[in-house]
Amino acid sequence: MSNDEEMVVTPWEVRGEVDYDKLIRQFGTQPITDQLLKRLKKQVGKLHLQLRRRLFFSHRDLDTVLDLYEKGKRFVLYTGRGPSGPVHVGHLVPWIFTKYLQDKFKTNLYFQMTDDEKFVIEQDLRIEETTKYAYDNALDLIALGFQPRNTYIIFDIKDIALLYDIALEVAKRITFSTAKAVFGFQDSTNIGWIFWPAIQAVPCFIHAKLTGENVPSLIPAAIDQDPYWRITRDIAPKLGYQKPAQVHCRFVPGLGKGGKMSASEPETCIFTVDSPSTVKKKIWNAFTGGKPTVEEQRRLGGEPELCTIYQYFLYLFEQNDEKLADLVRQCKAGETVCGDCKAILTERVTKFLLEHQKKREKAKDKVEEFYIMR
Ligand code: TYM
Repeated sequence: MSNDEEMVVTPWEVRGEVDYDKLIRQFGTQPITDQLLKRLKKQVGKLHLQLRRRLFFSHRDLDTVLDLYEKGKRFVLYTGRGPSGPVHVGHLVPWIFTKYLQDKFKTNLYFQMTDDEKFVIEQDLRIEETTKYAYDNALDLIALGFQPRNTYIIFDIKDIALLYDIALEVAKRITFSTAKAVFGFQDSTNIGWIFWPAIQAVPCFIHAKLTGENVPSLIPAAIDQDPYWRITRDIAPKLGYQKPAQVHCRFVPGLGKGGKMSASEPETCIFTVDSPSTVKKKIWNAFTGGKPTVEEQRRLGGEPELCTIYQYFLYLFEQNDEKLADLVRQCKAGETVCGDCKAILTERVTKFLLEHQKKREKAKDKVEEFYIMR
């Protein structure tokens, strides 16, 4: 998976130009077809922007979950976060989509905060830091409107007693040779990291453990998390569980030239706790599909397909399809220039974040209500 010179996509590293069709082939996932979207539409009514605009592009067994659902069998949702710092706008994408699925299908969500993962993987982080970020990042999740009645946050280090028996069952059935092939582990990899995938598998089955109801889980996440599910799906039937299903999204890009939004490049990354002036500065420095001078752009037009600003409108900040099409037309015709788009995006991102930050503040009293062990 990581041998490809140009493109590396692992749960811990995304590098190079990401070719999503190639990933579908390499990972052995299925594309989300028009036909599948039609089926989904029957269940949910209006398709979410992230489906209409193909941000979610790939899946494993989404069709099977729908088959079961149509026969009256429920499923649960599972997603998560590795709390190594503040949350950025890219992380919100799968969580916003998860909320949409939860509202439409009225399902439980199990959300894993992997303070243990980030401790074993990140050289410089202490346990106190990852557990602190886990709590802090939960505020972002809660701010998106999730409710305690059907949302259960697992804080790995705090809740390890709940997870440990299933983690052992999983770990016993995965050889080191499989783990090396799937994750690229080396002799120098610490053994905490090598054991870690067993723990990320557990929430796929936690609903069955807690309720006795053996239903599949559906996992919305970016495609980088897929290797976990490949091994989990292999062993699920051996443990008497349903195979977990997935819907995969693309990466929201950073504001620089190429690459996903990633906290390792903070200047090109919009964090949910950024101030309006920081947001403005970052967007103003963004890589666009514009020409070197305004005069040239007016004459020749811009290239939205290269533009990071456009992708923020496409995936998050322009809900209206006609307005989006208009934006593209105006850009290509040179009627709008990059400064215009940057100003609109700055205004929208700032408005969204100020609201989000208020909700985060309010969430501070509520985190315990979401504990899986309450
Ligand atoms: P983490 O913290 O790296 O990422 C959290 C979620 O955000 C997705 N993501 C992105 N999505 C769109 N655009 C981006 N630029 C972008 N960057 C990250 C990730 O795919 C992920 O869905 N090990 C996990 C935590 C975890 C988890 C899970 C994630 C535990 N169980 C189940 C998803 C599903 C991690 O470190 O995620």
